[in-house]
Amino acid sequence: MAKSLNNNLHKAKDSKNDEFYTELTDIEKELRHYKEHFKGKTVFCNCDDPRISNFFHYFSYNFEALGLKKLITTCYKNQDRDLFSKHYSESAIYLEYNGDKNGDRIPNPEEIGIVKLKGDGDFRSAECIELLKQADIVVTNPPFSLFREYIAQLIEYDKNF
Ligand SMILES: C[S@@+](CC[C@H](N)C(=O)[O-])C[C@H]1O[C@@H](n2cnc3c(N)ncnc32)[C@H](O)[C@@H]1O
Repeated sequence: MAKSLNNNLHKAKDSKNDEFYTELTDIEKELRHYKEHFKGKTVFCNCDDPRISNFFHYFSYNFEALGLKKLITTCYKNQDRDLFSKHYSESAIYLEYNGDKNGDRIPNPEEIGIVKLKGDGDFRSAECIELLKQADIVVTNPPFSLFREYIAQLIEYDKNF
């Protein structure tokens, strides 16, 4: 874990910005150690464009296997679909997934609720804090430049992460 975190920090430093996306294989390798902690829980990924985020991918595709209650994902501004998002728009969305309804075990678009946020999806904004309050566990890879503030907020709201 320490080695992979260290690698990630170096990659982020090298890229000189916060737009470094986590690979699905790294998420799978890390989270397989914590599976039992997710049963019946609401997971919040609050620095994750669901169109790109592998955290959203992991939790939506493993929703039933983990026994999740709810998955909430917020997107900061309107990010592009490529590796380095451009923040094209100030408006953001959040997404709520409550599990597979049609029995195909795949998170279909009609099963995913997409709601427009009023603001830009900043994890510190009032509307994102309201979503944070609903969460039991927060899982993401936050912007490194705001890391201390990010962790301080999770501690302030007494969230597992
Ligand atoms: C290191 S990237 C990781 C993205 C994603 N969580 C992942 O692991 O693939 C950090 C993300 O946080 C977003 N971000 C930057 N500032 C933010 C803020 N104030 N509130 C929420 N998200 C923010 C960035 O746009 C970027 O997508």
